[in-house]
Amino acid sequence: MKGILLAGGSGTRLHPMTLATSKQLLPVYDKPMIYYPLSTLMLAGIRDIMIISTPDDLPQFQRLLGDGTQYGVRFSYRVQPSPDGIAQAFLIAEDWLAGAPCALALGDNLIFADHLSVLLQGAARRDSGATVFAYQVRDPERYGVVTFDAEGRASTLVEKPAHPVSHWAVTGLYFYDARVSTFARQIRPSPRGELEITDLNRIYLEEGSLQVEKLGRGCAWLDAGVPDALLQAGMFVQTIQSRQGMLVGSPAEVAFRMGFIDAEQLREIARTVHKTELGRLLRNMADGEAGR
Ligand code: DAU
Repeated sequence: MKGILLAGGSGTRLHPMTLATSKQLLPVYDKPMIYYPLSTLMLAGIRDIMIISTPDDLPQFQRLLGDGTQYGVRFSYRVQPSPDGIAQAFLIAEDWLAGAPCALALGDNLIFADHLSVLLQGAARRDSGATVFAYQVRDPERYGVVTFDAEGRASTLVEKPAHPVSHWAVTGLYFYDARVSTFARQIRPSPRGELEITDLNRIYLEEGSLQVEKLGRGCAWLDAGVPDALLQAGMFVQTIQSRQGMLVGSPAEVAFRMGFIDAEQLREIARTVHKTELGRLLRNMADGEAGR
């Protein structure tokens, strides 16, 4: 399975912070925002990842992430000329996907959960249909909203409904089978002029192959697209890391735990951030594991 990290858009809800830089490069506590969804894709076992962003911002992502060798993965980069919708990612990446199944992570979505890797690797293993995740929120009108029937199966999907009939929002992490680009071609722009990811998901829903996994209480899903959410996400990460001494959203850690890199490669990454607490934690991890 391949992965796409979508990190474009104009970030207007975070102006003036995003006037001169990309939203997905803003800090969430001690790391750039994109590290979090990148870690999620890697935790799913995905090693071939395309980063899509605006013509202005893409070079910054390349500077930050390089070709992926340091994490034992491969990054490709591609421009989205204008923000014409999330589902457009599958048209932009169609030739690169070459018929492979694909996961898509939005660059401003952060998911933390116990056993997340089990959930993600389960979704990545499904070879037909699509899997999305639903999370209960107070303000569903800001999101794609899913309803469930009496048997708990997904029954409807609506993008930003004015009067939501459910509190279950669809998160910005999607797993699709090999038909995803073909289905993306069938979508027409919505009234706001975008190729909507919800319309793509509805195609799978209508053929009965959309699996919607509910994320429960023990899980946090944050989308850092507005100042309050950005601050909350940063505080959340800070709280967990300082209390537990464990990292959240570190691609280096995930690469190590997944066996993509060895202890020496992890130590090398730690050296690049040696003046930071992040560097100390990564070094400890490499030493601890090597000493076992
Ligand atoms: O966060 C989850 C929600 O994301 C879902 O519940 C919705 O169904 C889905 O439409 C989306 O809603 P948003 O209103 O949050 O989408 P937004 O336009 O903010 O885009 C999400 C991210 O994707 C954002 O970081 C920018 C990026 N993006 C967006 C568009 C439309 C692109 O890179 N290119 C685009 O063309």
